[in-house]
Amino acid sequence: MRLEAVLLPAFAPDEILEAVEAIAAAAPFRHMITPGGFRMSVAMTNCGPLGWVSDRKGYRYSPVDPETGRPWPAMPEAFLRLANEAAAAANFPAFVPDACLINRYASGAKMSLHQDKDEKDFSQPIVSVSLGLPAVFLFGGPSRKDPVKRIALEHGDVVVWGGPARLFYHGVMPLKEGARPYRFNLTFRRAG
Ligand code: SIN
Ligand code: FE2
Repeated sequence: MRLEAVLLPAFAPDEILEAVEAIAAAAPFRHMITPGGFRMSVAMTNCGPLGWVSDRKGYRYSPVDPETGRPWPAMPEAFLRLANEAAAAANFPAFVPDACLINRYASGAKMSLHQDKDEKDFSQPIVSVSLGLPAVFLFGGPSRKDPVKRIALEHGDVVVWGGPARLFYHGVMPLKEGARPYRFNLTFRRAG
């Protein structure tokens, strides 16, 4: 078991990005509001049985898209396979996610240091897939004050963290402008 995030360079196939477009056509990207009333700089959508949502009432997982009242788009088979194979490559066998949060970063968007702690099952890892523009991922420790490691992420890179590192703080530096409009990030979780 690792106290680090495991980087799997160029692990994700290109077709994943096409599937993201299809999901966004059914459940459009939106800027959610934090419980404190701030609009997040990252635009989000979800696929799978459960989707992560934030509003004035708090953070939680929901089986329906609050914008439409309909279930989130199904998780494509290729997503399930990718998440399962990435987790296995990082020594977390038999990972079957029930949630996939899709983040879209335009230049300047960032994600402050946070823990992924809205899931029921912390025995399962987080599998994080990066597509499009590069980004600098920050991976810290169990306390917000712990030093952070900077990990440069490129299109197709996958990061996995779990076990004793499952609740470690992490975030993303403000995205630089580049040759494409966006960075997309998929995080697969066992939420329910
Ligand atoms: C997240 O922590 O949910 C997103 C991480 C990333 O965009 O790389
Ligand atoms: Fe996170």
